[in-house]
Order: sequence, then structure tokens, then C-alpha cells
Amino acid sequence: MRVTVVGMGRVGLTTAVALEYLGHEVAAVDRDEGLIEGLRKGTLPFHETGLEPLWRSSRIELATSLEPAHLSADFILIAVGTPGLPEGGADVSAVEAVADDVGRLASDGQDFAVVVKSTVPPGTCERVGAIIDAALHRRGCSARAAVASNPEFLREGSALFDTLYPDRIVIGAEDAETAKRLRTLYAPMIDQRFTPPEDAPRPEGYASAPVLEAKPVDAELIKYAANAFLATKLSFVNELAALAEAVGADIETVTAGLGYDPRIGPHYMKAGPGWGGPCLGKDARAFLSTAAQNRSEMSVVAAALEANARQRRRLVERLENTLGSYHGTTIGILGLAFKANTDDLADSPALEVASLLLERGARVRCFDPVSERRAQREHPELALEYHESVEELAKDCDALIVMTDWAQFRDLPWRRLARTMRGATVLDGRNILDRQLVEQAGLTYLGVGR
Ligand SMILES: NC(=O)c1ccc[n+]([C@@H]2O[C@H](COP(=O)([O-])OP(=O)(O)OC[C@H]3O[C@@H](n4cnc5c(N)ncnc54)[C@H](O)[C@@H]3O)[C@@H](O)[C@H]2O)c1
Repeated sequence: MRVTVVGMGRVGLTTAVALEYLGHEVAAVDRDEGLIEGLRKGTLPFHETGLEPLWRSSRIELATSLEPAHLSADFILIAVGTPGLPEGGADVSAVEAVADDVGRLASDGQDFAVVVKSTVPPGTCERVGAIIDAALHRRGCSARAAVASNPEFLREGSALFDTLYPDRIVIGAEDAETAKRLRTLYAPMIDQRFTPPEDAPRPEGYASAPVLEAKPVDAELIKYAANAFLATKLSFVNELAALAEAVGADIETVTAGLGYDPRIGPHYMKAGPGWGGPCLGKDARAFLSTAAQNRSEMSVVAAALEANARQRRRLVERLENTLGSYHGTTIGILGLAFKANTDDLADSPALEVASLLLERGARVRCFDPVSERRAQREHPELALEYHESVEELAKDCDALIVMTDWAQFRDLPWRRLARTMRGATVLDGRNILDRQLVEQAGLTYLGVGR
């Protein structure tokens, strides 16, 4: 099939690469000329496991604006950004702008399908349809557009893997024909009829992707509810971690015990420094805004957001209680990205913790294996000292805080690091270190909820 993907962020680019890999003919559009220029040279705008080799071997056609020829594709997938508005709702203006472009560029007699992959408030697909129809009507154009919702659930850091082996494909279409065509588009994934790429092997036992057909508004709400639920689950575990600390329990043992219950499950049960990233907070706030507009209470989700803000401060206070005061101290932060395997700094707990430490009078040194340059570029307001390795970072530090769960932090030469540090405290904000090894090096180990 022929597909035009609009928006080359993590979602659009990964979708475009995956669909081309599965045998479709793909055109990619992004209004950011620098980004398109970079892609032409083979450079991706972000770090994502396994994507770059597939991108380099693909033959995806690139453009900086939607052209009439793009509309003759079987599908136009909208994957542009939907950032948060200051009052909490989602800014869907980029989605609407694409809808208007589609309506302005369509030709008489064309019959096409627009698929919204961006995360959007319930009712947006209906609005996208109305915008397209209005633009067609203004021009007296006889084209017809079907609009479907097909929300994206990929996780940053495993975007290609999640796209090829999704835990579900939600098809939100009003009419059976569009739903059927979308099933055909995704058939190679649904039936797993492809040879896995080297960097994204098929998980053992994974034979097919479940498909849920729904109305567009159901599909839109599923996406928001999924992120709001995940945020709530993590906030519950983080608050439980505080209680575990207070009563002398170990959160890792407690969550392991909880996870055996199939109604609770073992996933997304890790205590940490508070959740972050470009989606959870933005989507939870947009979800609350949708609820308020519809006079519905979502007090549990509101509490999850508040608990998350507290969690980040709690981490800073925990170390402060051990050190006495941050004045005159040097603190080393291991990891800046909001989680491992990505260079994304959006709503990263590490940056908020760094900023709180600076406010309280500490010097802050940091190291991240992939996101340092991005941090320097995007956060010049933070007076952070950047280092090339953990060894260099640890020198003369009063304490170290592990903020990102990078695999390389799990196994550090603690004895050697301890010799160069000024103080002797390690705060494991991710509960990923071997406590015994840290303590054998003569360091004081603090975790989250233990
Ligand atoms: N990043 C994730 O992990 C993730 C996961 C699931 C869903 N989502 C959702 O998917 C959507 C896209 O997310 P992302 O992280 O890929 O976005 P992004 O903000 O990183 O990228 C969006 C891209 O769209 C381009 N764009 C904006 N308006 C355009 C227009 N009118 N025409 C052409 N290009 C335009 C921008 O230049 C940008 O490159 C969002 O709604 C997001 O909430 C994201």
C-alpha cells in the first residue's frame, strides 16, 4: 500500500521506517527543514535503538510540505506533536493544520483515509473530519475523506521493537471499509509475516498482534486512559515506597509480592525518582482537562500528578537529611535522560532534581552516556558541570545520585570511585545498584523505599 506519514518525531519516523520495512511504499513529510535535511544525510534527530540502520537502507521519499501527490496514497497518517497547553489541555493545532492542508490539496473524485496517530483528546477525529470537509466545501471539491483514530503506544527507547511487536493495534474507524483497509496495512504485523530486523528480534512466543476495532472516540479515550493509568500505577508505587521507608520495609520485596497477583501484574511497578518523559505528564494533564470540560471527576489521576511532583522533592530531601545541608557540597548526577535507552530530556526527573540541588546551594556535576549535548543545548539555564565518564564525575563529590536506569550504571567500580570521592553517600534513585557492592566499597547506600 502507499502511505504518507506527516510528522517525523519518534512516532512518525518509527512508523514510516517500520511500514517501509514491511513492504509498503512510504512518503514522509515534516515542516522542519533542518530535520528533513538531516534525514537526507542519514542522521536521525534522536537516539532510538535499531532505527538508524533501517532508515539508512530505506527508500522513503522525503518532503517539507504536503503536496497533492501525497494525497493519492491509501493512507495519510498524522503523527505531529500535540504538546501541553499552559492550562493543561492538549494543543492540537498541528493536527488541525495538517487536516486543513489535506482539504486544500485534495483533488476532485479522490477518496482517501486520514489516520490520526497523534495522541489527541476525544472528539478530535470528528473535528479533523469537519476541518477537511470545510476546506473541500470552500473549493467545491468532490473528494471524500474518512478519518480514523489509530493511537500509538510505543515506548521511547524501544520504539522500533514496540512498533513491530505491538501489544495491541487499536483501529478506531467509523466505517467497516476503513477498518478493513487499516487491517490490511498492518497485516504483516498482525500475522507477523516478516523477517525480523537484526536489532529488533521477535520476542519468543510472539505470533500475532491483537487488534481492537472501536469507534474513533473510544480509540482516542483508550490512549489517554492508558497513560493516565500508568502514571497512577507508578505514583502509587512511589508513595508506597515512602511508607516502606518509614516502616522499615523494602519496596522491591513488597512490589514483587504484589506483582504475583494477576490482577495487579509485575510490570510498571518500579519505585523511582518520579516518572517523566514527553507523554505521561502531558497526557495525564490533558486527560484531566478533558474530564473537567465534560464535568467528570478524575481525582485519582489528579492525585497521581501531585504525588509525582512530591516524589522528586522527596528524593532531594532524603539526601539532604543524610548530608545535613547542601551548602558547599558537590553532588554527582548519573544520568540525565528521563529513562534509559533514550536521549529524551522532556520532563526528566534528573533535571528537576539538579535544579533543586542548585537552588539549595550544591555544585552539580553530571554524566549521561547519550544526552549530555542535548542537555547543554536545551538547558543553558542550568549551571551543570558536564563530565565524560562516571570516574571523572565522581572525583571530589560528596554524594552520587543515580537518576537514569542506564545498564552501565548497574556495574560500576565502586571501590575505585569511593577512593576519589570526598564524601561517601550513594543515592540509588532507581534501585538498580547492588547494595552489597556499594557498601563493601565503604559507601553508604540509600535507595528508594528501602
Ligand atoms: N514520543 C513518544 O514516545 C510517543 C508515544 C506515543 C504517542 N506519542 C504521541 O504521538 C505524537 C507525536 O509524538 P512525537 O514524540 O513523535 O512528536 P515530536 O513532537 O517529537 O515530533 C512531531 C513532528 O511533527 C512535525 N510537525 C508539526 N506540525 C507539522 C505540520 N503541520 N506539518 C508537518 N510536520 C509537522 C514537527 O516538526 C516534529 O518534527 C504526539 O501526539 C505524542 O503525544 C508519542
